[in-house]
Amino acid sequence: MGGFNLLVVGVVVVVTTMVGTCSANFYDDFDLTWGENRAKIFNGGQLLSLSLDKVSGSGFRSKKEYMFGRIDMQLKLVSGNSAGTVTAYYLSSEGATHDEIDFEFLGNVSGEPYILHTNVFSQGKGNREQQFYLWFDPTTNFHTYSIIWKPHHITFLVDNIPIRVFKNAESVGVPFPKNQPMRIYSSLWNADDWATRGGLVKTDWSKAPFTAYYRNFKATAFSATSAFSNVVTSEIQGSGEDSVLDAYGRRRLRWVQKYFMVYNYCNDPKRFPQGIPAECSHGRF
Ligand SMILES: *[C@@H]1O[C@H](CO)[C@@H](O)[C@H](O)[C@H]1NC(C)=O
Repeated sequence: MGGFNLLVVGVVVVVTTMVGTCSANFYDDFDLTWGENRAKIFNGGQLLSLSLDKVSGSGFRSKKEYMFGRIDMQLKLVSGNSAGTVTAYYLSSEGATHDEIDFEFLGNVSGEPYILHTNVFSQGKGNREQQFYLWFDPTTNFHTYSIIWKPHHITFLVDNIPIRVFKNAESVGVPFPKNQPMRIYSSLWNADDWATRGGLVKTDWSKAPFTAYYRNFKATAFSATSAFSNVVTSEIQGSGEDSVLDAYGRRRLRWVQKYFMVYNYCNDPKRFPQGIPAECSHGRF
């Protein structure tokens, strides 16, 4: 990814260069926001953990806001019987019409697969779930989960393999998250009313505390947020729709969607009596 031009309404053409905040220190980049000592930073800022017990879950939030860029984090999820637990890792702005880009890891009983749940909210509206099984056990090692957020598309990646692309479909009337800066959040909480087999399997509190680990956070931003108070209307030539993924990326995406996808809102017409959302048929891969 090189430099990248954005045309900003009412301002001038702003040429942004990549501002790499290549950081490996959780103390500098995050605040522990929930759960008291259940959220911890250790190893001199190299490692962070969240835990959940019967009293509370826990969470953290980035100090900075981001507006377009690539966010990478390595996670090692709750091992053993994690049924009923959800580890959420997401970008979000604030307020009733907030935007949000979500990864949520739905736990399971020992030996049964986690589900990776994804969603995209724009202007307060979500209902764009896609869910996947993973092709590895996410509890034995760290794996990298990434979000690439650009004005024309959002890409979700697991170990650098694209699993989902949400394209900007404003041309067919679908709002796209591109006007509100977002922070990075993560939390581990109890969601046994829906997480595992739709709520059938409950959290086994005799296994608490449940713990997830984080390391190697990296944010590569396209610009500081303050430069973008106006609406970004277009990317200049050269990073159009066709270049979202290269041929290899498209093949990997098809592989994931064919063998690992559990649920896709676009294939669930009974949820949408008014018709399948417009973005579903807009520029499919
Ligand atoms: C848990 O395991 C069951 C049985 O294999 C499976 O149907 C389900 O999709 C798995 N994941 C979750 C989060 O329920």
